[in-house]
This record gives sequence, structure tokens and C-alpha cells, in this order.
Amino acid sequence: MTDKQIHVSVADDAHRFLATDQTVWFSELPSASTEEQLLGLPADQRFAADTEGSDPSTYPGVYGVYPMTLAVPGTGSSVHHVPCAGLTWVGVHPDHRRRGVLTAMMRHHLEQVHETPGQHVSALHASEPAIYGRYGYGLASLELEVSLGRGTTLTAPHLEELAGATTTRMGVRTDPAMPARLRECHQSFAELGTVIGEVDYYARVCQELPEELRDKEPGRVLFAERGGADVGFALFRRTHKWERSRPSGELSVWALVGDPAARLALLRRLVDFDLMGTVKIRATGVEDPMLLWAGGPRSTSDVGTYDSLWVRLVDLPEALMQRSWSARCDVVVDVADRAAPWNEGSWRISVDDSGTATVERTSNPADVQLDVTALGAAYLGGGNLVTMHSAGLVAEHRPGAVAELWRAMRTDVVATAAWMF
Ligand SMILES: CC(C)(COP(=O)(O)OP(=O)(O)OC[C@H]1O[C@@H](n2cnc3c(N)ncnc32)[C@H](O)[C@@H]1OP(=O)(O)O)[C@@H](O)C(=O)NCCC(=O)NCCS
Repeated sequence: MTDKQIHVSVADDAHRFLATDQTVWFSELPSASTEEQLLGLPADQRFAADTEGSDPSTYPGVYGVYPMTLAVPGTGSSVHHVPCAGLTWVGVHPDHRRRGVLTAMMRHHLEQVHETPGQHVSALHASEPAIYGRYGYGLASLELEVSLGRGTTLTAPHLEELAGATTTRMGVRTDPAMPARLRECHQSFAELGTVIGEVDYYARVCQELPEELRDKEPGRVLFAERGGADVGFALFRRTHKWERSRPSGELSVWALVGDPAARLALLRRLVDFDLMGTVKIRATGVEDPMLLWAGGPRSTSDVGTYDSLWVRLVDLPEALMQRSWSARCDVVVDVADRAAPWNEGSWRISVDDSGTATVERTSNPADVQLDVTALGAAYLGGGNLVTMHSAGLVAEHRPGAVAELWRAMRTDVVATAAWMF
């Protein structure tokens, strides 16, 4: 089978779309309706790859897009929310793998984003890290999974007053108003690298299908409030565990949002639940204050580091001009981009004193030569270009040009981890 025989378009059959996904991800037989299972994924953002004579009950490949925003560097330490295509639900039927189905779907996706006015960036979480670099995605943020023992002392003398003025209270996850409430709070306290979905995406976050739960506690919400307003929340669940007749349950947190004092107050509650032994906090940014409050990595029970968000600059000049920059620079980059050829070639990036970039085509000789993945990795201020140069992943034709570009792209604080989508 060749690439030419694969046609990608909006999936007109939701059952077939789901059946493909369930074959790829070997899910349990679902009890919920098709639309419940597809909650949050708009019908016009479900795509399928088809081939002539394919099995009518499944598609050869599927993918979906959550309409999202990504918090990119703004002026000073602020963030700026830019439209972002949240690539998700990617799967190729086992009978069709390694025949170019994913490649055809990625071409379709990049062309769709390229044609959508105002949308210049795509982002994803990768099931396997080796897949998406070939399509121009760069690893832009990392995630820590931090385990804290019950009763861990968290010290932050200059936050005590504010943390003391913060109350924490359990919310009802199934409350119909919950998705909008979570979204509003997430948006208000977004950090660099945060992705925000539409309200239906938060409805999905609140949704728990019976087969996903089985013997688990339903997910819980813990809000932090100050002066009558939400200033943060945590999403978590507890799992019973007894060791030698002693309670040693695990409290698993998959979202911790809010200003630093709210997060401190929430964490103090979370490490103090009865019958728990360990609190495991996922989606923690590498510069999250949690490790400082706890006293460093060895004061925790464990810290694991994983890749978080992969970012793809689909329209390179527009994407680069959408963010603020940290320093002046005037650098010509020669960009390789096999999957989005409209980005290939030389671009002059000039940044003025206000942190505004102008990115234009140029025929001037290149100072720096790189793949579009390097710029995706550096887009949120992480992915150090100087290190990539030393590692032989970026080439420099004018001495100092890589550092000049990097000083303009880096940020005061590294991007946080993005929620799973
Ligand atoms: C990952 C997956 C989507 C790839 O689909 P596919 O149609 O087989 O991919 P293609 O045939 O278009 O392969 C494109 C290239 O990617 C490579 N590739 C594909 N999957 C890969 C993987 N898991 N690891 C490393 N390379 C991979 C192929 O070798 C091929 O390389 P080439 O261009 O040098 O020949 C498919 O294997 C799958 O559905 N896996 C399970 C679900 C999953 O992981 N989805 C991704 C969610 S983020």
C-alpha cells in the first residue's frame, strides 16, 4: 500500500472512529454511549484515514484535535494565551501499521492547522518519545512525578500569611457547574506552558466511566479559597493499601493549580489525609516550588522525570512572533522542516527592546542552522539551544549566534508541565 491511497478527512462515523481507538488502545468493553465516550472532542475535529476496501467496522487510522490555548511567554513574567491544536486520539489499526497511515494523518493535520486563521501551533503528549520528532515536534516541557510521605513538612516562611488566609474544601466533582469552575480557575492561574481546553474538555476531566473506575475511588476535587474566591484546586483520588496492618494508602494527584500560597495550602491538606502513606503528585513542573518547600529531592520519597508537552511550530514566523522575547537579537536561522515545507529555508529573527520579534524571509547567510524541532523545544523558554549546539543538534555559522538566539528565547522560569489530553 502506498501513501497515495490513504485519504484523510473528517470521520463521518463516530462508532467506527471509537472502534478503531478501542482496537489500538485495547480498551475494556465500554458501557457508556458513543457520545459520552467522545465527550470534549468536537465532531468536526475527529479525523479518519481510510483506504479503498478497508474493513467497514474500523478505520485504518484516526486522530482528533482538542481546541486549546497554550500559555507562551508574555511581557515580563506574564503569559500570553495563543490558540493551539491539541493533537490527541492518534491511533493506527494494527492491520495497517507501518504503511504510512500516521504520516498521511500528520500531513493532513499540519495542513489543517496551516489553513486555520490565527492558529499556528500544535502540541501533544507522546505515547512513545520516538514518534513525533520526525513530524517537527520538539520536547518543550518536562514533568516531574513527586512522591511525598504523609506528614511531610513544607516550609515557606514568606508565604505563611497568605497560606494561612487560604481555606481548603472538598468540591463535588459531578456538580454540573464544576467544568466551568475548574476552567475559570485553571485559566486565572495558568503558568507558562499551561494548556487550557474548552469547557467540554473539563467536563471530560470530571467524567469517569465505570470501566475506568472499577475498584477505584471516584476522583475528588479540593478547592483553595481566599476572600470568597477560588485561588486553586487539586484533583486526586485515594487507593487503600495496608502494610503489616498499618494504613499506607496512596493519594494520587493529577492536577495542582493555583497561586503559590494556594498550592502550599492544598499540599499541606493532601499530605495530611487519614489512612494515607504516600502522596504522588504528577504533572509537576521542573521548577515547581514543591521541591523547595520539601527540602530538595532527597526529602521526597521519589522523583521521576518524564517528557510533558511536545510543541510544533506549524507556521514558523507567526508562531515565533506570537510570543514575547527576553532580549534583543538579530539572527538568521536556516530551518529544515520536511513535514511542513512552507517553513523551510532562511528566516531573519530580529527582536527589539520591547521583546517584540519580527520574523521575515531573507537571503542573507545563515548564522544558525537547525531543525524546526529545536525551535519547538525552545518555544516555551526551555529546550536550551546552547546545549543543543554543544550536543551537535544545532549548527552555528557565526560565533555567538546560538547564545544570542537562546538569550532572547529563554525565560525567567522554566515552563510547567501540561495536563494530559
Ligand atoms: C504510533 C503509530 C500511530 C504509528 O503509525 P504508523 O501508521 O504505523 O506510522 P507510519 O507508517 O506512518 O510510520 C512513520 C514513521 O514513523 C516510524 N514510527 C512509527 N511508530 C513508531 C514508534 N512507535 N517508534 C518509533 N518510530 C515509529 C516508522 O518506523 C516510520 O519511519 P520512517 O518514516 O523512517 O519509515 C501506531 O503504531 C499506533 O497506533 N500505535 C499505538 C497507539 C499510539 O502509540 N498512538 C500515538 C499516540 S500519542
